[in-house]
Amino acid sequence: MLDAAPPVTPKPESERPHLGNRLMRRKPVEQLVAEGGQGEGGALKRSLTMWQLTMISIGATLGTGIFVVLGEATPLAGPAVAISFVIAGLTALFSALSYAELAGSIPVSGSSYSYSYATMGEVIAWICGWCLVLEYGVSVAAVAVGWGEYLNELLDGTIGVTIPEAVSAPLGEGGFINLPALVVILLAMVFLMGGAKESARVNTIMVVIKIATLVLFCAIGFMGIKAGNYAPLAPLGVTGISAAAATLFFSYIGFDAASTAGEEAKNPKKDLPRAIMLSLLIVTVLYCLVALVAVGAMPWQDFEGTEAALAQIMKDVTGHSFWGVVLAAGAVVAIASVVFAVLYGQTRILFAMSRDGLVPKVFARVNERTGTPKANVVIVSLFCGVLAAFIPLGELANATSIGTLFAFALVNVAVVILRYKRPEMPRTFRVALFPVTPIFGFAFCAYMMFSLPGKTWVYFGGWMVAGLVIYFFYGLRRSSLATAEK
Ligand code: ALA
Repeated sequence: MLDAAPPVTPKPESERPHLGNRLMRRKPVEQLVAEGGQGEGGALKRSLTMWQLTMISIGATLGTGIFVVLGEATPLAGPAVAISFVIAGLTALFSALSYAELAGSIPVSGSSYSYSYATMGEVIAWICGWCLVLEYGVSVAAVAVGWGEYLNELLDGTIGVTIPEAVSAPLGEGGFINLPALVVILLAMVFLMGGAKESARVNTIMVVIKIATLVLFCAIGFMGIKAGNYAPLAPLGVTGISAAAATLFFSYIGFDAASTAGEEAKNPKKDLPRAIMLSLLIVTVLYCLVALVAVGAMPWQDFEGTEAALAQIMKDVTGHSFWGVVLAAGAVVAIASVVFAVLYGQTRILFAMSRDGLVPKVFARVNERTGTPKANVVIVSLFCGVLAAFIPLGELANATSIGTLFAFALVNVAVVILRYKRPEMPRTFRVALFPVTPIFGFAFCAYMMFSLPGKTWVYFGGWMVAGLVIYFFYGLRRSSLATAEK
């Protein structure tokens, strides 16, 4: 059985639990669920439908990966890049099943952080939450930087003007400030400060535009397919396919975003698992189709050094630069929507961590009028905005995937633990073929992590050490479970 609710009577210092027990203290599922929605001074509003939750996940997922990273991964795998998408998608699928089961039984906003808190204890939960800051917070900054690059592409293609380097790159990369990256994050902040319902509406519009752009790409690109471009299918062998899959995993990050909306969903137990699975299905189908059309329409060797490969293909197939511009405009909206949805996720994860006392209380303060954590949105946006505008993210951005994979691996472990410890708990979604599926999920994540370069591991190690230092100086003593032990 999981731990019983913590005692509330003050205890003398000598009777307080040992460090090991404090690190391993767990938050009972019932307590997590009962506290759901409650913040400082108010509660989050429950307004999101299954469809809107699906859109949040697609919003956070579909963007830089397909519009930019596909171009970088194709030279690694050749035409078999479509297979790499399937492999990366399978990794995501196994973990998505685990997410779906846990989101249905612990429908709170903390996503894998909360699942870890219920099953593996506080220090693991903190590590998981810290990895989610990489998955969400740092990646927002990195994606915003990518957005600026695509915006330049669009401006160049339409009015022949590009934003000068001095204001479109940070110090150390030839400029002073990355203004476009800052602007897109501030725009997202403004929309997120309204209610969750309004944010969901803006998100849905952007998601419809990006899906339409990719469908248009497939329709036009299909006309340019030459069968010869598919041969040889895998010129760089299995090694190339898995290297590309590890790179492309980035394009699936975000399917779990719906699980950060657990406390704003109307019917979270039923709708969260469905939204997670549906969004993953939609993006996987789109990715594979786009990849197949792209490598069919342009020889794989030509992807090397071609920025905005999809726009190039549209231009080449039609013979008109107009269609390239349409594609670039769609990409600008697509990448902006990732910034928006991922920023939303980060605020809600910190909301849950703040309620548990692991980060300052201001992150859980709810604005009475909008029913949203407004102060949290402002702080997170400004933090990510400054990160994107002034800091060359380089390797830290690469560490995003490894952090995400680590969080996913933990979710697979959490499913197994919860099934054994709480077999009787009602579950709206159950992982099929248990425990094989979560074991595969874990193994896939580990495999992907080890396919990433050594340098990424070094940065990830540094990130983890920084996280542990913060925990030992702050969370360990301030956690709400610690307060209950006093
Ligand atoms: N999956 C997100 C993207 O591709 C992070 O932009």
